[in-house]
Amino acid sequence: MKTTAMISKKPFATKTTADKLRVTSFLAGVTILVCVADYFLAEMGGEKAIPAGGRSFLIETATVLVCMLLPAAFMHMSKAAFKQNVKDSPKNRKLIPGEGHPPKASKLDKQVSCQSDSTETPDSPEGKEAGGTARSMSQAVAAAVRAGERHRAERLLHEMMKAKHLGGLDTMPFNSVIHACAKTGDMLGARRWLRHMRSAGVEPNTISYNILMDASAKADDAEDAEHWLSEMIKDGIPANEVSYATVIHARAKRGETERAEHWLAKMLEAGVEPNIVSYNSLIYACGRKGDAASAEKWLREAEERGLSPRVTTYTAVVDACAKSGDVERAELWMEKMKEAKVEPNVVSYSAMIDACAKAGDAIRAQRWHQRMRNAGVQPNAHSFSAVINACAKSGNLTAAYEEFDRMEEAGVVADVVVYSGLLDACAKAGDLEHAKEVFARMKAAGVQPNVVAYASLARPFAHRGEWQEVESFATDMQQAGLVMNEYFLYALLLAYASAKPRQSERAEAAFRKAYAKGIEANKHVLTALGRAVGRGRAAQIARDLGISCVESRR
Ligand SMILES: *[C@@H]1O[C@H](CO)[C@@H](O)[C@H](O)[C@H]1NC(C)=O
Repeated sequence: MKTTAMISKKPFATKTTADKLRVTSFLAGVTILVCVADYFLAEMGGEKAIPAGGRSFLIETATVLVCMLLPAAFMHMSKAAFKQNVKDSPKNRKLIPGEGHPPKASKLDKQVSCQSDSTETPDSPEGKEAGGTARSMSQAVAAAVRAGERHRAERLLHEMMKAKHLGGLDTMPFNSVIHACAKTGDMLGARRWLRHMRSAGVEPNTISYNILMDASAKADDAEDAEHWLSEMIKDGIPANEVSYATVIHARAKRGETERAEHWLAKMLEAGVEPNIVSYNSLIYACGRKGDAASAEKWLREAEERGLSPRVTTYTAVVDACAKSGDVERAELWMEKMKEAKVEPNVVSYSAMIDACAKAGDAIRAQRWHQRMRNAGVQPNAHSFSAVINACAKSGNLTAAYEEFDRMEEAGVVADVVVYSGLLDACAKAGDLEHAKEVFARMKAAGVQPNVVAYASLARPFAHRGEWQEVESFATDMQQAGLVMNEYFLYALLLAYASAKPRQSERAEAAFRKAYAKGIEANKHVLTALGRAVGRGRAAQIARDLGISCVESRR
């Protein structure tokens, strides 16, 4: 699950909206009157009857009014629409990590740019006018950011800063530009603008920091995200649930569940109510570790807080059960999800099927896939590859092929993962011919094999000691620009070990060459080496190369 961010704002007070509507209607009326007057004057007297100055004055008036009217009407409409979209507490401005989907940039931008409305309206008449200019400049900055023209946005903001007489310079244009920097991963630029903001006498707000934290989290820099949160708290800027959720997510994403839990505790301590998103991050992190018990614990805690788990929440728990190889428990959570009236999606079913695959239970996997289709959920390459893996694991090549055919019938395009699954099925069945056939089919379909596919292809040949074949796959792979990894090295060493006669010299040379290229000498690789060159010699090579026991255990 990817956590995405949504920046929302204070919705508009009804009074303001009504006022705007009135002003808009008034402007519309005046514009129409001026246009009509202009038209009649031109009709009655022709160009000559009216002094040129008078006519151009009327045209200008009409133009100015239209220019004011259109943005006003547009703003009014977009705000009304936006207001409907705000689901959470209207008092808070927040950055809400969503789930599953990457942020829609335009939505984000719009929300960053909307945030300054109805803040700091100057009281004096000149202030009002200056505020109006500042507001239109702010909108120009936001528009530039939306259009992806960051440099223009920065230039406009610089202009705003230079024109000190401009009142009403607020957080909005700064946040827009900081967001533009953060979006492109330019954290230095974002920091610089935060400084500019302060030096212009504008205090960064919660949104400013949430943008920075969100960018750090996206860049996988949890320390940086934490740094911003600490900074924020130190500066007395209120951290909201989005601020904490972002840091929790940044830690959880890296599987650092303890740090994530720490921030959840901090959040509660600070009296900030977590939303389901924070729990989703935690549950997802537990899932990846296969820690089903913790995943369940957090789901229960979320429920106790009155939060409604979403489909991603349950799916993360199912995934946790799958990773820990507990099929029954995974099924239990699929049932609980249905009881809670949450419809499992293709990701949930795929996680369930993965659990069956892990247990090597092809029949159960197929049954779940069928159940999914019966529920009207469209299968995809992921769900099919999960089933094919289950067939491969159980060593049933016929079933794997059947699923592959079914997939083609369903019009689902096979990707490299699906083909690798099929190759695994061939490997498990020791079926060299079919392995070659699948590989050829993959290439014919225009699917570029990766190292995993090559390793799967090589495995059955390696078991038979057909080292020449495996070597030729290695050459192919190299020509395709792929770098050998430890899985392929394992297959190669296994081929030398299983050959008759054993190919000790080739094995040693291949191992040394691969090691020099930085391939990890893990336990499996060293075992295969031992089988190819003899354990004594393998130990000697390991000593020569300074491979420690720690490394070999990795
Ligand atoms: C393999 O799968 C096929 C088709 O699903 C099935 O008919 C057959 O019984 C399975 N064979 C084994 C040994 O499980």
